[in-house]
Amino acid sequence: MTQHLREQPIETQPPSPPTEAPRRQSGVSRRGLLGAAGAGLAGLAAGAAGGFALGTQETTPAQPTLPGTRTYPFYGEHQAGIITPVQDRLHFATFDVITDSCTELVQLLKDWTAAAARMTQGLPAGELGPTSGPYAAPPDDTGEAIGLLPASLTITFGFGPTLFRKEGKGRFGLADRQPAALQRLPSFPADKLDPQRSDGDLCVQACADDPQVAVHAVRNLARIAFGRAAMRWSQLGFGRTSSTSTSQATPRNLMGFKDGTMNVKAEDPAAVDTHVWVPNNADSQGQWLAGGSYLVVRRINMTIETWDRQPLSEQEQVIGRTKAEGAPLSGGSEFSQPDFDLKGSDQEPIVATDAHVRLVHPSNNGGAKMLRRGYNFVDGSDPLGRMDAGLFFLAYVRDPGTQFIPIQMKLGLGDRLSEYVQHTGSALFAIPPGITQGEHIGQALFAKARAYAP
Ligand code: HEM
Repeated sequence: MTQHLREQPIETQPPSPPTEAPRRQSGVSRRGLLGAAGAGLAGLAAGAAGGFALGTQETTPAQPTLPGTRTYPFYGEHQAGIITPVQDRLHFATFDVITDSCTELVQLLKDWTAAAARMTQGLPAGELGPTSGPYAAPPDDTGEAIGLLPASLTITFGFGPTLFRKEGKGRFGLADRQPAALQRLPSFPADKLDPQRSDGDLCVQACADDPQVAVHAVRNLARIAFGRAAMRWSQLGFGRTSSTSTSQATPRNLMGFKDGTMNVKAEDPAAVDTHVWVPNNADSQGQWLAGGSYLVVRRINMTIETWDRQPLSEQEQVIGRTKAEGAPLSGGSEFSQPDFDLKGSDQEPIVATDAHVRLVHPSNNGGAKMLRRGYNFVDGSDPLGRMDAGLFFLAYVRDPGTQFIPIQMKLGLGDRLSEYVQHTGSALFAIPPGITQGEHIGQALFAKARAYAP
């Protein structure tokens, strides 16, 4: 059954059912898992599609159609978690590498690869699991996912500009392999960035349909990194704010508007090739990134209380779409193209000149598109009782220099939405291509790296 799932191409599987899924699985025994371990990871994954359980019964594996049992292959041409149908939950984390040794860094990536390959198939992070290792040693899995379903977990890794060069000095022998486009994002108008929510040498994006499964993944990767990389900051997200597949309904962001209508979708491979994957020979230093992508990260706070006091007419003018259906104000239905030339009886454009969708639409940006994969967030409230909430913007692009920076510059200067949002975190990562079994994440980057000479 799981074998059947694994044989399907990564991106063409139908999305998981909605998240009101049963979280616990009753199918796979501990004994069954450990027995399978001897048969290697592929066999293990095939036998444990339902996640890992701590039980005493001999049981049958969960059915593939049961909510939460879906797994996505970890290995492939591209990393999972990009055009994979967006899951409902996110735990995103960035890490600073704290060792000077290139060998230790590569070993960390090998260890992360092994753990991620297991966890995405619903298995414990380590082969012994949370309760079977030596009694006198910490377990090689933290245990909070015992009994949980795999929940479509994907784990996507990225490399920040500071992995290559920091304070003008090359690191790990990688300085001459830093792609030209992998630079710290510039300051944009009205940015109010918190350095403790920005940047990082490495990033991990864990997405799943169960929040505890996503947190378990990041937590175990942080545990494995001990002594080699330290978590710099992290962000939880809920309620995807986009669709990456035509089979998904368009969700809503915390402003109450449909978001992701015009996103790049997996079912349009030509658009994905043009806008998402880095092509061969994109630049002389970044050949290792071919087949990968760039991930733009922006933590965008909303001034929710101010927004909630705006009339519906103002809210719709700000976005340029109706709140009910998400249709352009110029007419039609959700997926109609907006008519930016259409004028009302007052001879003013119906989609305002400072409306968000006008400023970001590809026709006003030289055809540039991005694959958005963001999430809502609420991180409690401030001492004045205002919600610390907004949109954790994640966008995959082939070239941030043409597909994000000029558009965000324009938004910072003239987007009516800017009155209601504040960018509080920022980062850019190169997302290496996928790997085959036996390789480690980022293998192509390190293949010809010079020995590190501090
Ligand atoms: C809190 C901040 C934001 C909110 C609430 C927001 C909301 C929306 C909404 C409601 C839509 C229309 C539905 C759709 O086509 O997806 C949209 C479209 C879009 N947004 Fe945003 N957005 C935000 C930030 C950004 C940023 C920072 C960028 C990039 C710099 C961006 C780029 C886009 C793009 C490219 C589209 C599709 C436009 C099209 O093809 O018609 N958005 N956004």
